[in-house]
Amino acid sequence: MLTIRTPATSANIGPGFDCLGLALAIYNTFTVEKSDTWERLGADERFPVADDLFLTAYRKGCGVIGECTPIHVRFDTSIPACSGLGSSASLICAGLAAAGALHGNALSRQDLLTLSTEMEGHPDNVAPCILGGLVASANGRGGLVSKNLPIDARWRFTVLMPDFEISTEEARRRLPPSYTREEAVQNAANAILVSHALSTGDLGLILSQGEDRFHEPYRKGLIADYERIRKILESSLDGRLFISGSGPTLLFVSQEEPKTRLIEQITKETVAYWRVKTVPVAAGMVVREES
Ligand code: HSE
Repeated sequence: MLTIRTPATSANIGPGFDCLGLALAIYNTFTVEKSDTWERLGADERFPVADDLFLTAYRKGCGVIGECTPIHVRFDTSIPACSGLGSSASLICAGLAAAGALHGNALSRQDLLTLSTEMEGHPDNVAPCILGGLVASANGRGGLVSKNLPIDARWRFTVLMPDFEISTEEARRRLPPSYTREEAVQNAANAILVSHALSTGDLGLILSQGEDRFHEPYRKGLIADYERIRKILESSLDGRLFISGSGPTLLFVSQEEPKTRLIEQITKETVAYWRVKTVPVAAGMVVREES
């Protein structure tokens, strides 16, 4: 029997669109065992078995290995679906890891990174899901490169999770087909400087360079409370509000946790219901074999 635990992930962190992501301590756990039949238990039944990302990833991994055993899998999930916290990445990474672990550890970490990025289409959730911490990735002509970056211990990461969903496909359809050179240069510069700020604890740098021009301006409109929450948080605390992945979860990066009074103000003044939680940075996916 295998137990696989995957962390939530917050991708982009503003200007790091499709290349920067952070693992956070909210977890999905999957228990997997070899069987003669296929069975999926505990999953969100809105997602049919035929399209299940865990099982699709498992079969993809098996295809690469050249051997496929049917499995029983039980989901125990805390990462909300379609929320911008990497729930699909969690299913994909766990499914591939299960395929590797049940067939003689046939997939390396680099295989998992490459195959999961192929399935997800971008590496910024799957890479921190697998590696943990803060990860920068490039998926170019030379293949996929993912590197952990240090995170200064002073940072606090607060997730604000609303009671509605947005699919990544829908949020990606909002984006323009191309950007100007000025936008590209500014985003590249800010992505480097935001990474530097996260690594060194430079609060001023995150406040001044957190601006993104690739996705946030086009996605804010999908989150009715966005401007209200930004004003409440940024006027009370030194920190920067980002859209987590493709939203609707928001990520507030600061060095002081929002206090209860501020959280109550958000609850009172917003249209949606928002759950607010300061979450530690997480290590990467853990695969354990139990007898
Ligand atoms: N980088 C991706 C996007 C993350 O913003 O569309 C999706 O979670």
